Amino acid sequence: MSAKLLDGKAIAATLRDKLKIKVQTRVQQGLSVPCLAVILVGQDPASHVYVKNKRVACANTGILAKDYDLPIETSEAELLAILDKLNADDSVHGILVQLPLPQHIDSQKVLERVLPQKDVDGFHPYNVGRLTLRMPLLRSCTPKGVMTMLTETGIPLAGLDAVIIGQSNIVGRPMALELLAERCTVTICHSRTKNLADKVRAADLVVAAVGIPEFVKGSWIKAGAIVIDVGINRLDDGRLVGDVEFKEAAAIASWITPVPGGVGPMTIASLLENTLQAAEMRDA
Ligand code: GUN
Repeated sequence: MSAKLLDGKAIAATLRDKLKIKVQTRVQQGLSVPCLAVILVGQDPASHVYVKNKRVACANTGILAKDYDLPIETSEAELLAILDKLNADDSVHGILVQLPLPQHIDSQKVLERVLPQKDVDGFHPYNVGRLTLRMPLLRSCTPKGVMTMLTETGIPLAGLDAVIIGQSNIVGRPMALELLAERCTVTICHSRTKNLADKVRAADLVVAAVGIPEFVKGSWIKAGAIVIDVGINRLDDGRLVGDVEFKEAAAIASWITPVPGGVGPMTIASLLENTLQAAEMRDA
């Protein structure tokens, strides 16, 4: 392996330490403890793990997590009523609704019900619009975490050819907006993209967010490229792998994120940052 490892676990730990001090300082000044309402509907096993990790991270940072574990039968109206209550509750600074929601609930309707100033996931059209216009407020956690990691490399981003594989609302699209704001030349690829391998071969920066194990081949990576792997896929043998062939890509890239321990911890660190930011915005 010749690539340097972009160690999300370590970067996130440093970030959490800094946030913990900021939270302590804030509380010593007589300001409120940042509070995040975390809503989980149903029993999706992966969501349970993600939510547990988010709650533990809150506790370790001094952020109060209010847990809402709702049964799968929860109706859309019931969920919206809970959001209305949390929106009106001044002691709650941030609201997170874990996705995916059960089929009978309209996710977009739910995400739009969260007050934009409490939307710590950055999913509300208001916050996406602000990022689009280069005046971000609360930014989506995974792309924000990736940008924090990229800053750590010290590599100037302006002018880089960036290829994003995946066009989701959670990762691909806001990732493109983040990189565009830093003046990368951005290409978003998806399932209908022609000559994907050639597009990746031309990229100085590749962000893979497809959800297919080792979909991006090492042979597609340009020498010296930065490779960010957002995928977390569990194989039948229990191993966790990303969307990129790690060993092969690491032999040629300049920087690469591992899976696990890369983007995942950064997503959670960004959520904590956003919760503190929401609390600070409320006080301002
Ligand atoms: N499901 C997968 N990723 C995310 C995320 O970043 N936030 C929420 N709320 N749900 C998710």
